[in-house]
Amino acid sequence: MTQKVRKAVFPVAGLGTRFLPATKSMPKEMLTVVDKPVIQYAVEEALAAGIEEIIFVTGRGKSALENHFDKPYELSDALRKKGKMKELDMVENVLPENVRVYYTRQGAPLGLGHAVLCARGIVGNEPFALLLPDDIIYSNQGTMLKDMVDAYEETGCSQVMVQEVPTDRIKNYGILDPKGAEVKNGRVQAHAFVEKPKPEDAPSNLGVVGRYILSPRIFDFLEEKVVGAGGEIQLTDAMDKLIQEQDFYGFLLDGQRFDCGDKVGFQQANLFYALKDDYIGPRLREFLEQEHIKNELSKTA
Ligand code: UTP
Repeated sequence: MTQKVRKAVFPVAGLGTRFLPATKSMPKEMLTVVDKPVIQYAVEEALAAGIEEIIFVTGRGKSALENHFDKPYELSDALRKKGKMKELDMVENVLPENVRVYYTRQGAPLGLGHAVLCARGIVGNEPFALLLPDDIIYSNQGTMLKDMVDAYEETGCSQVMVQEVPTDRIKNYGILDPKGAEVKNGRVQAHAFVEKPKPEDAPSNLGVVGRYILSPRIFDFLEEKVVGAGGEIQLTDAMDKLIQEQDFYGFLLDGQRFDCGDKVGFQQANLFYALKDDYIGPRLREFLEQEHIKNELSKTA
């Protein structure tokens, strides 16, 4: 009988250098996509997958994020007095009452693998979901994370989300090696992982995106603190060791992933969610269809 996946780790200690100057004093996870901070999308996804405990691995300058998930007593009081009950609900109920939140700090940004290792004491000896909140996942089939949790609970095998990436972007990803096997019904067995290979050396075009369900055994490999690509302690390297002991599966993303740590991905996410919004969408389209706006945009294109 495999253990239930009850905990989710959110590493949020990165420096966000791709998003300067916005991230000079503002955590990138707090940048807003339409009307919610980026981090809230991933937290809601985890809750929809049945997660009960949330663990943030934070770093310097991330207090805005901690405040976001806390109760804002003064603001709540002011909203209550003004009778703004809808807004009160928005700020009071960012998290359901039964969900527990933990914070731990990564002293220095030594890499994603190191950030995950910092959560070991809180996760303990049980499987966990890992969500990189930079990635907003819009799934065509509800929540894929829930499917990944179910797959772990049925099989005890670690799971990772992958997407097909264009050749010129392979060098930015951890790549799954399926040993020539095809993706079937959206699943593929992983035989190895390679961090940021050159396109000519890449074993496939299946790039790892920021959703994982991991066996706690991963911590033993992270503990070795091997410095990998980019001088960082890489999660991909530990996954590559885990795979030699336990089966590991890739879940092909059925939907859209927005890399909100990147300026283009962030704007795409804003456009996508704004245009899908019942109130904002029609108004935004109307704005974009005005002749003088079209003229202006054609000049800068
Ligand atoms: P990224 O590499 O996308 O984040 O890491 P970054 O380092 O902030 O990005 P840039 O390149 O400087 O813009 C993926 C995730 O891992 C976390 C990040 O916060 C992000 O959620 N991370 C990364 C850590 O928590 N600690 C680290 O040492 C590195």
